[in-house]
Amino acid sequence: MESATFVLFGATGDLAKRKIYPALFQLFVEQQLPSSFSVIGLGRRELSHEAFQSNVAQSLLTFSRSEMKDSVVMEQFLNAFRYHVLDVNRREDYTKLLSLVEDREVELNITPNRMFYLSVGPEFFETIATNIHESGLGSARGWKRLVIEKPFGHNLESARQLNQTLNQAFEESEIYRIDHYLGKPMVQQMGQLLQSALTEHDLRTRTIASVQISAIETLGVEERAGYYDHAGALRDMFQNHMLQLLMMLTIEFPKPSSAAEGVKRKSQIIKSLMPLNKRKVSQHVVRGQYGAGMIKEKPVIRYTDEAGIASDSQNDTFIAARLQVDDSFWKNTPIYIRTGKRLKEKATRIVIEFKSEGPLKDLLIIEIGPQEGIYYLKRQSNHELSEDETSLRSQPNLMNKGVDGKDAYETLIHDALLGNKAYFAHWNEVELSWEWVQPIMDAYQENLIPLHVYPAGSYGPQEASDLLERDGFHWWFDK
Ligand code: BG6
Repeated sequence: MESATFVLFGATGDLAKRKIYPALFQLFVEQQLPSSFSVIGLGRRELSHEAFQSNVAQSLLTFSRSEMKDSVVMEQFLNAFRYHVLDVNRREDYTKLLSLVEDREVELNITPNRMFYLSVGPEFFETIATNIHESGLGSARGWKRLVIEKPFGHNLESARQLNQTLNQAFEESEIYRIDHYLGKPMVQQMGQLLQSALTEHDLRTRTIASVQISAIETLGVEERAGYYDHAGALRDMFQNHMLQLLMMLTIEFPKPSSAAEGVKRKSQIIKSLMPLNKRKVSQHVVRGQYGAGMIKEKPVIRYTDEAGIASDSQNDTFIAARLQVDDSFWKNTPIYIRTGKRLKEKATRIVIEFKSEGPLKDLLIIEIGPQEGIYYLKRQSNHELSEDETSLRSQPNLMNKGVDGKDAYETLIHDALLGNKAYFAHWNEVELSWEWVQPIMDAYQENLIPLHVYPAGSYGPQEASDLLERDGFHWWFDK
């Protein structure tokens, strides 16, 4: 791997502490970072290099999964770190940053390859990208890359606006948009796992009756009221993670001729989604918000009583939707997606239900997290598991090759350093996703569809089950 500098905006923030430092450290321990490597952390507060390094050490002690923390290896790792105070709006701060980056490049004999990682609120993306460009930080001989995290815009228009500004500083090929679901091992291996799980016949013919994609959580809004009350489940999870899961699954049918062909197919899938008309959204979408209830036997308050949430908030904490991919393979196969907070369990799972004659249904289950695995089941209903099923479910890694507890950020940062864009959200996918979601946002805004309050600790509003029952299906594995 080529030598490089990792310039981290938001170096004292939560994401950096919990995810980015532990991921970088893991890569370092596994010798997957370039041999010459420099990290420049940026933040608003004055901090000495030493104080910064000791903050990073602290976050590794708390969050790293490596056994090498608290060792000489960690010291070597920390030696690569420097801190620079920066006000994102002040040009002269970027000029000083450029000198620091260049000094370290000379000192460590690093090619001026620079990765700018924006671990800051999206409201700073444009300012930072523009300043990187105008200060000359981005005009070195080596490569430059920009890494950003969702949300990429708040709707179609703001996403386009953001992208236009970013494109004045970085080419599309230089922009790495993290959707951490694309870094999950089961998502990255989806193609491979499906190819070994399914027969040629399954992959070629249309014997799939329906698909369900669920990402359900027990957590509530937590400390993120300011962000979440304006995002809701639709923007927070559906427009990005859920549609990415849909794309990653459906591109595998029929089997793509190459990985590159698979990536290309992603935007074709979104383009083939049957568009919704805002007046008809209610026939395809269920909007929910959590009420009070019990999670793991503990009482929890309703959404509108949470700190920082207006008592009359109409924000969605749950969405279920029926989608239709109008291509030759998926035509006539409904795809159901749901995601929500304060539900009964934490699970991200895809269930493929095959067409069958008798009462027993053939299911292929892909557990994406926190449990990981892929397996077949024959089932009649959602009643108690039979003993056979229980034993199958307790060894979920039946066909799961090489998943080893890797965190999504390890894979994604490694890929970004290598210049591998396969598992990042491409602009055309992001734009098409916003376009598809826009009528739902309009329907919400104009209150064209009801907001159903569901008890915390349930599987969401009854209407989400009705959505499937109308077509003769039900959500699998709701307990
Ligand atoms: C984030 C959302 O992108 O994904 C959160 O902003 C959500 O609201 C989280 O809790 C879920 O991720 P995971 O990996 O725990 O399924």
